Amino acid sequence: MILNFAKENGWKVFFVESVCDDPGVVAANIMNVKVSSPDYMDCNRTDAMEDFLKRIECYKATYQPLEPDNYDKDLSFIKVINVGRRFLVNRVQDHIQSKIVYYLMNIHVHPRTIYLCRHGESEYNLQGQIGGDSGLSYRGKKFSTALRTFLEEQNLKDLKVWTSQLKRAIQTAEVLGGQYEQWKALNEIDAGVCEDMTYEEIKEQYPEEYELREQDKYYYRYPTGESYQDLVQRLEPVIMELERQGDVLVICHQAVMRCLLAYFLDKSADELPYLKCPLHTVLKLTPFAYGCKVESIFLNVEAVNTHRDRPEDIGKKVSNPLMRRNSVTPLASPEPNKKPRIEGLEDHVASSSSAIPVCLASDVSVAVPGQIVNELPRPSDAGVKLSAQQ
Ligand code: G3H
Repeated sequence: MILNFAKENGWKVFFVESVCDDPGVVAANIMNVKVSSPDYMDCNRTDAMEDFLKRIECYKATYQPLEPDNYDKDLSFIKVINVGRRFLVNRVQDHIQSKIVYYLMNIHVHPRTIYLCRHGESEYNLQGQIGGDSGLSYRGKKFSTALRTFLEEQNLKDLKVWTSQLKRAIQTAEVLGGQYEQWKALNEIDAGVCEDMTYEEIKEQYPEEYELREQDKYYYRYPTGESYQDLVQRLEPVIMELERQGDVLVICHQAVMRCLLAYFLDKSADELPYLKCPLHTVLKLTPFAYGCKVESIFLNVEAVNTHRDRPEDIGKKVSNPLMRRNSVTPLASPEPNKKPRIEGLEDHVASSSSAIPVCLASDVSVAVPGQIVNELPRPSDAGVKLSAQQ
C-alpha cells in the first residue's frame, strides 16, 4: 500500500524498522520509554509493563519483518537491531537516505544532560555592539566563576566542554579549569558588513538591510555574512556530535544557542530567531523518549539584556515555499538549492506573493533557578518517519 501510494506520487520510500529480540533490552525499553509514552499517561508502571508485553504478543501474530535476502531485497531500508547494537542497511538510494542512516546510527538512548549557555557578558555586550571578538566584562568574569561552582555542584563525572573559537567563549571556559574543545562551527552568526556595529548604527547606515532583517529574521542573510538558516547548516556537525555524546556543556553565543535549542525543542524556523537565551543563564536539557526537559538556571550575576523581541508590526509571518530552498539540516526543508540573499524589499515582497503561513513563536525560557520551563517532543524521537518523501 505504502509503495503504491508513493509510486503514484513519484516519491521514493525509505523504511526504518526497529527490531528488538533481547528480553533484557525489551524490559528496559518498556520501563524507560513506554511507561512514559502518551499511551500510558494515566497508568502505573506495573500495569504499563504488563499491557505492553501483551501488546508485543499481539504484534507478533501479524507483524511481517523486512526480509533483506528475499522478498524485500529491492527496497531501501535500515533495520535497527536491539536499539542500535547492530544495523542492516539495504539499497540506500541517495543523499537524504544516507543522512537518515547516518543519523540513526549516531543517536543513542542513554540518559545524559546537555548544558547550553552563552559566554559571560562581553565588552561588546556592554556597548550594544554585535559580532567582533571582544573579551569578558567584569561581570562576565564573575559569571565564569559562578559557572564553575554550578558545574561542581552538578557533580558530573565525564562532562565535555565545548566552546567557539571566540575570545569571550574561550575566556569563560578557561575559568572552569578543565579541558575544553574549540569548535569554529560554534562561532557567533557572522554579521558581515554589520559586524562591530550597534543595532542603532545598522538602522542608520543600512536602513534597508535593517528593515529586511526585521521582516524575515530567519532567512535574512547579512551582506558578506550569514543568515540563521546558514547557521543551522553550519551547526549540523555539532548537533550530530551532541547526539553521539554523553554529558556536554556548550559555551556559545546568542544566535548559536537559539539554533541548538530549537533543534532539541523542535522549534520552527519562524520561532528560532526569537528564542530567549539570556546571558548568565544555563539551560539544562535532559532528553527523554518523548521530549526534552528544560531547566533554566540563572547564575545570579547581573548582565545586560541583548534580546530583541519580534517587531510587533510584522504580525503573523508568511513565508514563500520558494524561499525555503536552502538546507537539508534537521530544521529546514529538504530542498537542496541555496537561496540567494534577498537584495531589496521589492524582491522580498514579490517572492512572498504565493505565501504559506508558518506558526508564530512562543518564547522558551524564564530565568527562574531550577524551574522546568518547557517539555516538548524532540526531532530524534518524533521526526524520523517510516518513509522519507523526496
Ligand atoms: O548578532 C548577534 C546576536 O547575538 C544575534 O542576535 O539575531 O537577535 O540580532 P539577533
